[in-house]
This record gives sequence, C-alpha cells and structure tokens, in this order.
Amino acid sequence: MAILIGDTAPDFTLESTEGTIHFHDFIEGSWAVLFSHPKNYTPVCTTELGYTAKLKDEFAKRGVKVLGLSVDKIEDHAGWAKDIEETQGSALNFPLLADTQGEVARKYDMIHPNADNTLTVRSLFVIGPDKKVKLKIEYPASTGRNFDEILRVIDSLQLTAKHQVATPVNWMNGEDVIIVPAVSNEVAKDKFPGGWKEVKPYLRIVPQPQG
Ligand code: BEZ
Repeated sequence: MAILIGDTAPDFTLESTEGTIHFHDFIEGSWAVLFSHPKNYTPVCTTELGYTAKLKDEFAKRGVKVLGLSVDKIEDHAGWAKDIEETQGSALNFPLLADTQGEVARKYDMIHPNADNTLTVRSLFVIGPDKKVKLKIEYPASTGRNFDEILRVIDSLQLTAKHQVATPVNWMNGEDVIIVPAVSNEVAKDKFPGGWKEVKPYLRIVPQPQG
C-alpha cells in the first residue's frame, strides 16, 4: 500500500556508507529527508548529491538529517563519492543507503515498474520528529530535483508545526503567512497579539512568526 502524507514512515535497518542505519533511531527527535536516486555514476544523480552535500549547514540549521538511497552496493557508493567531490566541489557528508535487495525501495514505493523494473525513481520524503510523513515527491530519472525547494517546504512545514500558520502560493521565507482555518479568532487573538489582516473570514494574513 502506498505511503501517504500523515502515515508513520516505515522503519528499516540497512547498511549505509556511515554504518548500519536503524531508521527510526536515526530520526529520533529530528526532522529527516529520505531520498532515492536511480543509480550511481550517472550524471543527474551526481549533480543532485553534490548539491545536497553543499546544503549541509542549511539542513543542520533546520534540525534535518539527510539520508540517500540507491540499489547500488556500498563499494560503488565509495568510488562514486570521489567523483562527486571532484566534479561538484563538495564531498558526500550524509549517509547513502545500499539497498541492493530493493527492500526499502519497495517499502517506500520508490520502484515504478513501468518506468524501470529495478532502479528507483527520484522519490523524496520529509519526515517529522513524530516519524510521520510530511511531504512526498516523485520525479522521473531524467529530471533533477530542486533541493532549494525542499528547504522552502521544510521551512513551511516547521512554521505550521510551531505556529499553526500555513504558507500561500509561491511563499518564500520571511514573507507573510496565513493563520490555519483550525485556529478560531478567539485563539488567534492570543497567538497573534499584533493582529492580522482579514481579507476574508477564512483568509487571515499575519507577518511570519519568528523563532
Ligand atoms: C542520471 O542520474 O542522470 C540518470 C539516472 C538514471 C536514468 C537516467 C538518468
């Protein structure tokens, strides 16, 4: 059965470039990004992993642990890591799972047989400290993902978790946000003492809460 937003992220134990990962222990108390790439020594994957490594401080600032996955072997990950450093200017600084049996890939529906029978598509899950799936995206092998967009979504998810605000179309960090419909005006008066702009009763705009 497909994993849906709000579901508990399935647990697993698997070898990675940084030792054995027990996924739920790995997440413990943090946010996590779990993402698959189709294959080592391929061009788009090389650029994606290099860029993700460059974002190390951005993920750390947000309390997010990153975990990559492909069906390649650990030894292949190690060899390819050198190419990533050489061509993308940043060394791998997060663990890469070696899912050679496709066990985790199948659990997370990362293999789409009509696209490829064995290789994973570009799946990405953002998982909260409660171990629930907050975001899932799936891209084909030929299209590299936008990891700046992943950071943007994480900012939005964390604002919702902390302040009960949602983010409007094309929102960027620092811009105004929306009070979620579940917060009544009574409660909103306490939460947002500076007030809000009521465009419609269901569309209440506030400056982005800080902290
Ligand atoms: C790539 O990373 O460039 C790639 C991987 C698998 C299929 C197509 C492209």
